[in-house]
Amino acid sequence: NKAVTIHTLVTLRAAGEKITMLTCYDASFASLMDRCGVEILLIGDSLGMVCNGHNSTLPVTVAELAYHTASVARGSKSAMIMADLPFGAYGTPETAYANAVILMQAGAHMIKIEGGAWLAETVRFLTERGIPICAHIGLTPQSVHQLGGYKVQGKSTESAAELKNDALALQNAGAAIVLMEAMPTQLGKEVTDMLTIPTIGIGAGPDCSGQVLVMHDMLGVFPGRKARFVRNFMEGAASIDDAVTGYVKAVKDGSFPALEHCF
Ligand code: KIV
Ligand code: NA
Repeated sequence: NKAVTIHTLVTLRAAGEKITMLTCYDASFASLMDRCGVEILLIGDSLGMVCNGHNSTLPVTVAELAYHTASVARGSKSAMIMADLPFGAYGTPETAYANAVILMQAGAHMIKIEGGAWLAETVRFLTERGIPICAHIGLTPQSVHQLGGYKVQGKSTESAAELKNDALALQNAGAAIVLMEAMPTQLGKEVTDMLTIPTIGIGAGPDCSGQVLVMHDMLGVFPGRKARFVRNFMEGAASIDDAVTGYVKAVKDGSFPALEHCF
């Protein structure tokens, strides 16, 4: 497979082909996902929950994400490697840059940060310095205590308008991707139609340019409560290879997410 770049994502969106993304934390799964055609591997700060057993993403550090990013980068051949900047690592454009450099040097090709229009300055600062950015809006788990729980975002007219404004501001600041988590299907569609850059959804409906799930969730491994937007692809699969291939196929042919996974 050819290396997935920022141009690949633009081409896929333009062609109407869905972009596939999964979280990944080690070299063995990176190799498997790469082989199954997953286009983006995210070293998410969900690491703290699914690998370390914390009940939020807040304790995760840059050093931990760098360690796992290096492992994923060694295991994959052609996928795009995206790494999260964790809680507390991007309070200013300068600290964001210093921490993003650590993750890029560990092997990331793109950096994801959580937040709205207030992050535009940081997005511009990093993109100008050669660091492609995925902006994560909607349910932003690092703000769980500010949000008062893991809740669907953008349900009221005002909050939907604010999220649209955030998405536009982040695109205008140079973001390469907008990722939307836990938002109504209609809003996911409106944001995707409004933007020229690709969108990735997790619980944001079928109309986003692509989809992402946490690896443990889609393999039915995570012991917590199953979120509405999760589908266990191990059901009916003969192997993990089968499950991941099934995920890629279901995202590409539009059968995932189905109505039952959406808000
Ligand atoms: O950390 C993570 O796994 C994420 C995805 C849920 C998008 O940010
Ligand atoms: Na994350």
